[in-house]
Amino acid sequence: MSRSTLVLLVLVVLVLAACGGGGGQTVSAGPGDAAKGQALFEQKTIGKDNLQGCVTCHSTQKDVVLTGPALAGIANDAAESPKDPAYKGQAKDAAGWLKESIINPDADVADGFQPKVMPQNFKDELTDQQINDIVAYLMTLK
Ligand code: HEC
Repeated sequence: MSRSTLVLLVLVVLVLAACGGGGGQTVSAGPGDAAKGQALFEQKTIGKDNLQGCVTCHSTQKDVVLTGPALAGIANDAAESPKDPAYKGQAKDAAGWLKESIINPDADVADGFQPKVMPQNFKDELTDQQINDIVAYLMTLK
């Protein structure tokens, strides 16, 4: 094998590894618009198929528990959660953890709540940008 072929092969393997052929993936959020995210969050229905909106299950008032946990201060929890030794999800930072909470709600189920209650298909219902906008909004809830 020529030297350049070898270099190419090593590069391909590195790129594949970075893309995560199992287990190594990271969930991270891109830049978002918090004002748009708030508007989306407050819609009674959301997404292509008009799923139940976030606000119908989540209050942003401290300790007001609806079907889901109150999201007051969620940005602070989001900063701590990925560092928890018990955390098994794929986020490395607060915004990534919030994004994961939307696209894969059962990656880290909130204490005292049941899995499979929050819709599991927001990933298909919302655009990546809409999800990033909602994450930007949630990051303001300190
Ligand atoms: C049908 C009710 C329901 C809807 C609609 C819903 N959620 Fe949830 N959500 C839950 C429940 C129940 C939990 C707790 C269980 C879990 O962590 O998966 C939760 C957990 C979360 C968490 C993690 C909270 C924590 O303290 O760990 C976030 C963040 C979140 N939801 C955001 C959203 C956003 C944003 C939307 C709208 C795109 C949304 N949810 C729509 C019920 C819902």
